[in-house]
Amino acid sequence: MDDGDASFVVNAVYWLEQTENDVPAEDRWLSAREQSCLGEMRFAKRRADWRLGRWTAKHAVAACLHLSADADVLLDIEVKAVASGAPEVLVRGQPAPVAISLSHRAGVALCTVGLPETSFGCDLETVEPHGEAFVADYFTDSEKKLIEDAPTQDRTQLIALLWSAKESVLKALRVGLRADTKSVSVSSVDAGLLTVPIEWRSFRGTGSVDWRPLRAIYSGTQDFYGWWRVQGQLLRTVAADVPLRPPVSILLTHSAPLPHKGHQSACDSALQSPCGGVSGWE
Ligand SMILES: CC(C)(COP(=O)(O)OP(=O)(O)OC[C@H]1O[C@@H](n2cnc3c(N)ncnc32)[C@H](O)[C@@H]1OP(=O)(O)O)[C@@H](O)C(=O)NCCC(=O)NCCS
Repeated sequence: MDDGDASFVVNAVYWLEQTENDVPAEDRWLSAREQSCLGEMRFAKRRADWRLGRWTAKHAVAACLHLSADADVLLDIEVKAVASGAPEVLVRGQPAPVAISLSHRAGVALCTVGLPETSFGCDLETVEPHGEAFVADYFTDSEKKLIEDAPTQDRTQLIALLWSAKESVLKALRVGLRADTKSVSVSSVDAGLLTVPIEWRSFRGTGSVDWRPLRAIYSGTQDFYGWWRVQGQLLRTVAADVPLRPPVSILLTHSAPLPHKGHQSACDSALQSPCGGVSGWE
């Protein structure tokens, strides 16, 4: 791969999922500011989702920065919502050398972690039937065609996938559903390896086989690249404004190094080189 060729810039994101059962009942792992934010939430479901998201994000960030997951360390990792609602990470009050995206659904939270220079978003969606009006109102003509062309038994999952991919793109853009859902059009999902750069093919069969590629376009001009994966009734998508390698699972017993891209990253300088090469990637 030629690093100088922008169309072949490849980035990585790491992902972690946690469930409500993983989250302790007490709040000692939340900072004073986070506890005060939680205290302002009126609805139990919102509080539970928010705590689950913070728990997942703090563990994902700790693993990626090679920090322990002790309560004191988790306290020092804060996830703050900016005005748009997008999450930002602070470590000991300073902007972290990583960016995250968050989603929670049905008692599960997904957090993706990557380098701040990449705009990425993630989303979790339940695979469940939607009425015809949902597709009519929120999908583009080309997405409607993808749905029409799909075998009937695949449509429910495809609709969840297209919707989730839109949300991931809108999170990557940090606008969320303030933007028209038709401003994002998913152009291909698992369109086959022909659309995947050749060097990615070896990842299939190395543990990433369950992530399949997708492509989307924003506003008719900006390309987004992503991956999707379904397990049980939950479907996940990740999308970014640059081609991404298949998302890498964070194992909490082992730290997940951020990708070393052959140049000094924010991660290198800010936290004493916690980044390392990912075996088999470089
Ligand atoms: C972002 C959004 C699309 C996610 O909706 P959702 O599918 O219900 O929720 P998910 O669990 O997948 O994602 C929620 C997470 O997205 C993140 N998020 C919120 N706004 C975001 C934005 N503008 N950009 C990127 N990420 C955002 C947050 O981390 C949030 O979790 P948290 O609030 O617990 O930190 C939606 O909340 C949204 O558009 N929000 C902004 C506009 C808004 O508030 N509209 C009112 C309702 S339409």
